[in-house]
Amino acid sequence: MDYSQIQEILEGKCTDKEVNIRGWVWRARSSKKICFIIIRDSTGRIQVTFEKEINPELFELAKSVTIESSIEIKGVVREDKRSPGGYEIHGNDLKLISLAQVFPITKDQSVTFLMDKRHLWVRSRNIAAILKIRAEVYKAFRDWFDNNNYIEVHGPMFTGSAVEGGSTLFDLKYFDKKAYLTQSSQFYLEAMIFTFEKVWTVAPSFRAEKSRTTRHLTEFWMLEAEKAYSDLEDIMKVEEELVGYVCKRVAERKEELKDLNVKPNTIAKIVPPFERISYDKAIEILQGDGVKAEWGEDLGTEEERILTLKYDKPIFVYDYPKKAKAFYHYPDPQNPEKVKCADLLAPGGYGEIIGGGQRIDDEEILLQRIEEEQLPGDYEWYIDLRRYGSVPHSGFGLGVERVIRWLLKLDNIRDTIPFPRTINRIYP
Ligand code: 4AD
Ligand code: MG
Repeated sequence: MDYSQIQEILEGKCTDKEVNIRGWVWRARSSKKICFIIIRDSTGRIQVTFEKEINPELFELAKSVTIESSIEIKGVVREDKRSPGGYEIHGNDLKLISLAQVFPITKDQSVTFLMDKRHLWVRSRNIAAILKIRAEVYKAFRDWFDNNNYIEVHGPMFTGSAVEGGSTLFDLKYFDKKAYLTQSSQFYLEAMIFTFEKVWTVAPSFRAEKSRTTRHLTEFWMLEAEKAYSDLEDIMKVEEELVGYVCKRVAERKEELKDLNVKPNTIAKIVPPFERISYDKAIEILQGDGVKAEWGEDLGTEEERILTLKYDKPIFVYDYPKKAKAFYHYPDPQNPEKVKCADLLAPGGYGEIIGGGQRIDDEEILLQRIEEEQLPGDYEWYIDLRRYGSVPHSGFGLGVERVIRWLLKLDNIRDTIPFPRTINRIYP
């Protein structure tokens, strides 16, 4: 049988025709004479009516269906200004595929309850809209990198060493060895620039984040890119172009944005260039505001919040102190206490969405930094990359969920991903 999708009907493509639809019951109510079922499929929602007078048996069957039952209906599409979406279906057949038990999700439930029922909650209109935007973000990444001649590559998830320091590593038994879940594919991307010069990936990243915050997950997705023959300024340009492009694409998803109460224009106006301020300047601004920000420390959630509330586009903060950042960053030739890196911070209090910078491409300097930091694991292969045709190079990692949270103004990062993982959540 041929099934129509609800969206086609709402676009007026099936008016006055008989259609078959399969989906789930979103709402149902009935009076003595007529039963209204709102059916949803992956593309939308539409009201179907069953009148007692026309077919009493069908009317009784329609009355018996429960919320989230799976059904198939046949009926004639009529334009109807009163019904939501402007169209209605006059049902003349209904097949119950599976009668749902009483659906546990109703209004006014606690966040914990909803998180426990996440496998059912993902059916909600809100989550569906967020996840469609999420899919668009991924499409935009791929299009941007394709258009700019980057090659997609994939690193392993089981690794033998830390990228971002030992404190957030998940370790595991790998046969008779110790291994870690990857924190970042960066080092593998660095290896691949010697084959392809410009590479990118989207991959999971695992961090044993022990604090409960609204912007940390223990498993999240990171978009990473690495580029040969590039310095910090070069990679910042790549980052802003990419973010600008993602914003343009998300702003085009008017329907989902409407469901989420986000004005497309607030996203469309995020166009590069983005302002660049030095770390020193950021500290000065914060101290001027009476914030106890100390030179030498990385900017924390609170500092980033206060700083970015002053802006309506993302800002780069560049040239951080060496001791605030990971060991692989290129030392500033003018000041060895600083490194050539930059974070991109989202405006409006959201804070860091990208970390990136120029990498150390010299064997001696890298050996010294690894020694200073006393990192767990085996970095021999990573050092090798500096021994065989090393070139200046830079790269970055973008937190996919952080970007979605910021663009959609969501209170908590967990709503950006179907099944979030945090310190106290591994179910469902
Ligand atoms: O700043 P991070 O730690 O940088 C790296 O891992 C680099 N090795 C990436 C690279 O240069 N290739 O992480 C990159 C981004 C952050 O800016 C943030 O957006 C996101 O990943 N991120 C998290 N997102 C959600 N939950 C967490 N626990 C996150 N930790 C980092
Ligand atoms: Mg960072």
